Amino acid sequence: MPRQAYVNGRYLPHGQATVHIEDRGFQFADGIYEVVPVRQGTLIDEEPHLDRLERSLGELRIAMPMRRRAIKLILRELIRRNDLHDGFVYMQVTRGVAPRDHKFPAHSTPTLVMTTRRMKPHREAVLRDGVSVITAPDIRWGRCDIKSVALLPNVLVKQAAAEAGAYEAWQVDDEGRVTEGSSSNAWIVTGDNKAVTRDATHAILNGITRLSLLKVIEAEGYSFEERPFTVAEAKTAREAFLTSSSSFVMPVTRIDDAPVGDGRSGKLTAALRKHYMDYMTEQGAGG
Ligand code: PDD
Repeated sequence: MPRQAYVNGRYLPHGQATVHIEDRGFQFADGIYEVVPVRQGTLIDEEPHLDRLERSLGELRIAMPMRRRAIKLILRELIRRNDLHDGFVYMQVTRGVAPRDHKFPAHSTPTLVMTTRRMKPHREAVLRDGVSVITAPDIRWGRCDIKSVALLPNVLVKQAAAEAGAYEAWQVDDEGRVTEGSSSNAWIVTGDNKAVTRDATHAILNGITRLSLLKVIEAEGYSFEERPFTVAEAKTAREAFLTSSSSFVMPVTRIDDAPVGDGRSGKLTAALRKHYMDYMTEQGAGG
């Protein structure tokens, strides 16, 4: 069965799914997106992802393209048509098609695109050894809480990471404090075994994985703190990890050229990953 995408009311073969050249997403990056993980055929944290979609749209004054109930039906139909077990659904909404002019058009219908992608399980060796991150100045705008498709700074910094042989880049504000990764949230574990991640302000995207992991941490009786941490603190932390809809909980064992802790995946990180994987499995079981 060829891969199918959804574009403005139609299911199409992926290669034939297109939008207009005057779509404001293409012209101005005037749109937002969401990435919803799918595990064993189940959407993970569907409601929080749709809440964030609605919030991002609201902040940009773009209308919801349709009711939430209709979006949920399309999500399921797309999973069914693509026979998707493990991967994610990508959703993008833009302000729609209009003659190129920066200000909002008087009338436009939001564009809605949804696609799916399969994902291979993370390799055991990666989970055991962890991944490396580089650090780089955060050159983004002041509303990183909006999941905008304007991702050029993230693209550039991820490319820099790839060229350095690293998995991710941790962006750093003017005060030397880590904001977040190019497509993930950043965490450290302190000497007294506390998980620390930056508080959710306009400086970061409030990751759904981040939010769920905070709940898991609380439920399991671990301690955490939401506050900024510096690159120096991260480099001397006991453990480090990152979270996202595609990485889940991923150990970070190298920051720039310094090993984190003993350079191996940390104990708390491994425990939190396991709890988080269980949390996802429970959603499949209807829990
Ligand atoms: N990225 N921070 C940024 C800048 C992100 O782009 C993402 C997600 C996250 C983590 O959010 P969540 O836990 O909701 O996935 C944090 C997605 C996966 C992407 O761009 O593909």
